Amino acid sequence: MCGITGYVGHEEAAPILLDGLSKLEYRGYDSAGIAVRDNDGKVRVVKAKGRLKILSEKTDGGTTLPGHIGIGHTRWATHGEPSEANAHPHISDESSDSSAVVGVHNGIIENYHELKEKLIAKGYKFYSDTDTEVAVKLVDSYYRESGSPLEALEKSMVVIRGSYALAFMFKDYPDEIWTARKDSPMIIGVTNDESFIASDVPAILKRTRTVYYVDNLEICRVRAGDVKFYNIEGESRPKEAVSISWDAQAAEKDGYEHFMIKEIHEQPKAVYDTLSTLLKDGLTDLSSTGLEDSLIRNFRGVTIAACGSAWHVGIEAQYLLEGLARIPVRVELASEYRYRDPLPGFWEMNSDTAPAAGPVAGDLVIIISQSGETADSLAALREAKKRGAHTLAIVNVLGSSIAREAEFVLYTHAGPEIAVATTKAYSAQLVAIDALALHFARVRGVITEDKERQMTAELMTIPDKIRTLLEEKDRIQWFASKKINTRDAFFIGRGLDYAVCLEGSLKMKEVSYVHSEAYASGELKHGTISLLEQGTLVVSVLTQNRVLEKTLSNMVECKSRGAYLMAVTTHGHFEVEDIADFTVYIPKIDEHFAGSLAIIPLQLLGYYTSVARGIDVDKPRNLAKSVTVE
Ligand code: G6P
Repeated sequence: MCGITGYVGHEEAAPILLDGLSKLEYRGYDSAGIAVRDNDGKVRVVKAKGRLKILSEKTDGGTTLPGHIGIGHTRWATHGEPSEANAHPHISDESSDSSAVVGVHNGIIENYHELKEKLIAKGYKFYSDTDTEVAVKLVDSYYRESGSPLEALEKSMVVIRGSYALAFMFKDYPDEIWTARKDSPMIIGVTNDESFIASDVPAILKRTRTVYYVDNLEICRVRAGDVKFYNIEGESRPKEAVSISWDAQAAEKDGYEHFMIKEIHEQPKAVYDTLSTLLKDGLTDLSSTGLEDSLIRNFRGVTIAACGSAWHVGIEAQYLLEGLARIPVRVELASEYRYRDPLPGFWEMNSDTAPAAGPVAGDLVIIISQSGETADSLAALREAKKRGAHTLAIVNVLGSSIAREAEFVLYTHAGPEIAVATTKAYSAQLVAIDALALHFARVRGVITEDKERQMTAELMTIPDKIRTLLEEKDRIQWFASKKINTRDAFFIGRGLDYAVCLEGSLKMKEVSYVHSEAYASGELKHGTISLLEQGTLVVSVLTQNRVLEKTLSNMVECKSRGAYLMAVTTHGHFEVEDIADFTVYIPKIDEHFAGSLAIIPLQLLGYYTSVARGIDVDKPRNLAKSVTVE
């Protein structure tokens, strides 16, 4: 969701800005623009609606914009339609090529309307519908008063409500870029004589691995190879750079046609790398998270808050934590949790004790997030902390806001995920939850060490079993091409299989635009079944023995109403083939962990359906990888 790049150094800025933006394409956008200051101090802005390719063509790969300092932006429309006028960068003075302030923004300025009216009263005119133009003109109004970028930013940050990562160039400081940040990501990379600004690490990996993570409410002055940080009071703050260990290759397609299929193939590694940090000598070991066993023993329950696929992992976690560790779990959509006055200790309500109004110590809130920047998940984390709960973040991106603000952090090790639709990060989260559930189960005395050893050994078979499943991808591709014209799809399953269905269905609809829903099989007769027509695709997941026959009966009910049935089941359940039109078998595994295998054919189904339908699978319309606004 919106990408920012910036460069100051000795090379031509525009090609570097464009290249950086191309690495941020995954975030989702509908227009783009760059602004470069030339050696005479003049700023030129070029913008384009649509793909970055158009901007690149318009500027001949950036070569028509000479200069060694500039800022770039990909915009995901919030205020105002996607258009050239609304695209960033925005300028304070339309009639001049030496505008006092030029800026880009990621986030939402909530009080932009009020600020705009005040600026209009001061004589400012507006050429776009964006909240960003308001921010640029607000900063300009303070800059005109003091002539100081630092003071202008400090004052603006005090009056702006909402979330932002902002980057500005000021007329009288031709060798500097200034940034300010609240609740939207921003990093700064440096070499000896260059500096790079970006919304995410992949944008700068080619050029440097030395990175500063900009903190909330922090202002930075960026010169070539020299970055200075200030707090909102304008006081200078020391900061250590960190060294990024991913290589640039990890964020490239590496011979695969799309990032999504590359990332599907990276799942054995993502799962292995994540498990390796959570298992030691055959037992789970959460010491890297900071979460101590003495605390785990005393938790009365767990709340999980997340969005999208991470929420699906939460649903799976509920089955696992309750089933294996016998601890009550509640799963919440982060966007709901943050506004509904939640009580972290909800289970207390059933006891004689009245629910505590203040902090409820002893309860755990888990936030699951690949990016660690999702606005709703971050807000849910803050809400949980405010209410006194212990917080554990399961996050993939090192140094992200959620990772930095949570009390305990469990890092998944999926590496950079570029395709909008998550696959490897989801799989890494799933095994992290498996390990967490096993650990809770042993520490709380529900399972023995022997049992745990046996189960962790099963967990470690997942990477190879995923590899085996991936060898069968041609069959799924064939099936997807056969069902290319499917209008609707329904995914049904019970228990853990239902959690897998939620994710399988999301994969289908988000990348292939086929209308799709996931239903717990038992709910079929309460609605969905009326939607079945001749040929409607129904995908069933059957890996849980206890309920397998129940779902089989539900499949028969669908078939007798004309549905076309695909089934995903465990090797050995050959009776499924008598009912399903197309069956995929997953290798045998402890049922608790079958979700990690059953999801693979469903990811492939979504992917190949999308490709067969000619959709831009890595960047489906309207979606963003990292949703940093509400
Ligand atoms: C977006 C992505 C999804 C992701 C969700 C939550 O909608 O497209 O793939 O599951 O955000 O993101 P997070 O980074 O918090 O896991």
